[in-house]
Amino acid sequence: MSATLPRADTTGAGARPAAFANYIGGQWVPAASGRTFENRNPADTSDLIGTFADSGPEDVERAVAAAREAFPRWRGLPAPKRGEILYRAAERLVRGKEDLARDMTREMGKVLPETRGDVQEAIDMTYYMAGEGRRQFGQTTPSELANKFQMSVRMPVGTAGLITPWNFPMAIPSWKMMPALVLGNTVVIKPATDTPLSVVNLVKALEESGLPKGVVNMVTGGGAAVGAPLMGHKDVHIVSFTGSTGVGRKVSEACAPAFKHCHLEMGGKNIIMVMDDARLDLAVEGAVWGGFGTTGQRCTAASRVAVHKKVYREFVDRFVTRAKALKAGNGLADPSAEMGPCVNESQRATVEKYVKIGLDEGARLAGGGHRLDQGAHAKGWFHEATVFTDCDPKMRICREEIFGPVVSVMPVDSLEQSIEVGNSVEYGLSASIYTQDIDKAFQAMRDMYTGIFYVNAPTIGAETHLPFGGTKNTGNGHREACVQALEVFSEWKSIYIDYSGHLQRAQIDTEVGE
Ligand code: UN1
Repeated sequence: MSATLPRADTTGAGARPAAFANYIGGQWVPAASGRTFENRNPADTSDLIGTFADSGPEDVERAVAAAREAFPRWRGLPAPKRGEILYRAAERLVRGKEDLARDMTREMGKVLPETRGDVQEAIDMTYYMAGEGRRQFGQTTPSELANKFQMSVRMPVGTAGLITPWNFPMAIPSWKMMPALVLGNTVVIKPATDTPLSVVNLVKALEESGLPKGVVNMVTGGGAAVGAPLMGHKDVHIVSFTGSTGVGRKVSEACAPAFKHCHLEMGGKNIIMVMDDARLDLAVEGAVWGGFGTTGQRCTAASRVAVHKKVYREFVDRFVTRAKALKAGNGLADPSAEMGPCVNESQRATVEKYVKIGLDEGARLAGGGHRLDQGAHAKGWFHEATVFTDCDPKMRICREEIFGPVVSVMPVDSLEQSIEVGNSVEYGLSASIYTQDIDKAFQAMRDMYTGIFYVNAPTIGAETHLPFGGTKNTGNGHREACVQALEVFSEWKSIYIDYSGHLQRAQIDTEVGE
């Protein structure tokens, strides 16, 4: 049936919307209930992309059963062969990149250069993990006893339940799916309801590359109806979640009773620190891209900027001018659009709520601050790029994750104060410093308690071959991407082989030659 699966019309010309199904046991099947939900373009809500299965616990049950059944054979396939399937999938993504990016802009709203980047990140991750088919290195260590050999090897955990967000609709699913697969796990993925099409596209690339039936299963639908039964299922052995800290806590609690492996990637309140010796042109461009790229809807977004008082006025003037000039628009209809809409109505409502909070707290609204709902923006969830200045680090707009196009600028006296302010929030994902002084750069690099740090670059832009994740309420000690992702989706087995022909007792037979 996959060959006849309809392709979404990416022109927005109003062709008949496609109906997308779940992918279970290698079949595209509707929800058991027959219910569906709509996926609409957040830049133009009159554009219906398609309908998707509005699934429930019954569908999860079937998907987990399929994953469980597929596990022994998939695990038994040599890892290099698993890697080859991933490699072929990466090749398909390369060939389809432009269409995949257009589908993504249509369902998520971020502009085309950004969605091309998202697909590219999935390609990078898929190639990277294809290579892990021939690595997955373990250890050999010398034994303390004669004629004894020892090594450690990775084992898959079993079935992985993946719950993925809408802001990186293909990249983040690939961060989870590809390491899980190359290690020999099977997968059930629940995409965000705002962006299921990009996961359909990723799953199709794997299907068309020869992935055996049941190895990846996709169930679309809401958090309560699909996410909760998935994370609580006894045959799901590892849950990997990216989303808000509030939901992450629930995932953690759901996994705790069974001591289920649980990987969480959650909120951020990332800071750019601009020192008095910074190249201001660079810092301004970095703050614009870090703050308003993806409409601020990144866990790595630079939602705070601390600026040394000596350059504060100049930075603020230039930054606000740039922010005010940013053109929000429909990425498919207007190639000159630089910033897409918020992903949905409730996300824009959150932005508006925080604009009010900032005003009530006494921050100075220096640019933006309003929804855009006239003319070309009338049918989307647009909001102006918004800058608050003269902020106090204690304000809620400086401490809480907004996940929208709102940046809070704070004056500081020194590097030490910037670091203190930077570390004062409950999150620890990413931070950056703009300075020409290498001593300051190293000091900040050492003292910022974040999982990611940049020098003379914004807080966004992580590559797939370094670990990605954060400290404090951003995560629970794991990292995705790079070889660290292998830790999430595997268990170690230590193996001892005694070929001495007699009983040797570790730690007891301590005399040499005994
Ligand atoms: C996110 O911020 O939600 O580092 C993910 C980046 C991207 C991934 C961001 N490669 O900005």
